[in-house]
Amino acid sequence: MPLRAALVLHGPNLNLLGTREPAIYGRATLADVDKLIRDHARDLGVRVECRQSNTEGQLVDWLQGAAAEGFGGVVFNPGAFTHYSIALRDAVSAIALPVIEVHLSNVHGREEFRRHSVIAAAARGQIAGFGPLSYLLGLDALVVLGDDGGGRPRRRRAARR
Ligand code: DQA
Repeated sequence: MPLRAALVLHGPNLNLLGTREPAIYGRATLADVDKLIRDHARDLGVRVECRQSNTEGQLVDWLQGAAAEGFGGVVFNPGAFTHYSIALRDAVSAIALPVIEVHLSNVHGREEFRRHSVIAAAARGQIAGFGPLSYLLGLDALVVLGDDGGGRPRRRRAARR
C-alpha cells in the first residue's frame, strides 16, 4: 500500500540546530530542516508531521502511538540516544511500522562511541552523513517500502495452468 503519512522524530539537542556545533551539523535550524522535510513530503504526496523531544520517554510514547495516529512509517534521528537507549531500541522493535534511522553527520567517521547504534539492528535501515538530506532520503526509503508492501517480499500468485 502506498505510504500516506510519515512521522519524523528528532531526538535530544536537535532543537539547537543552527547554533549547535555548526561545523558538524550545519547552519540550518530545526525549523529550516522541518521545512525541507515538509516540502519534500508534499512533492511525494505524503502527509508528514515533525516532532522533537529531549526526553526518552516522550520519544517512546510517540513511537508506540505512531500506527494508531495513522502514520505508515517513521523517520527517526535519536540523537545521542542512538548510542545507548535500549528503551528506544525496544520501542522500535515493538512496533510493526518501518523505522528509518537517520543522522545528519556521518556517525561512522566520528568518535568511537558514535560508531555503534543500539537502534540500527531494530530499524529497517540507517542513513547517515548527508546533513538535512538524510531525512529526505529517509522519507524516500519509506515511500519505496510502502510501495513494496513494507519492504517484505510480495506474495506471488500461484501460477495457473
Ligand atoms: C546525530 C549524531 C549523534 O551522535 C549525536 O549525539 C546527535 C546528532 C546526528 O544527527 O548526526 O545528537 O544523531
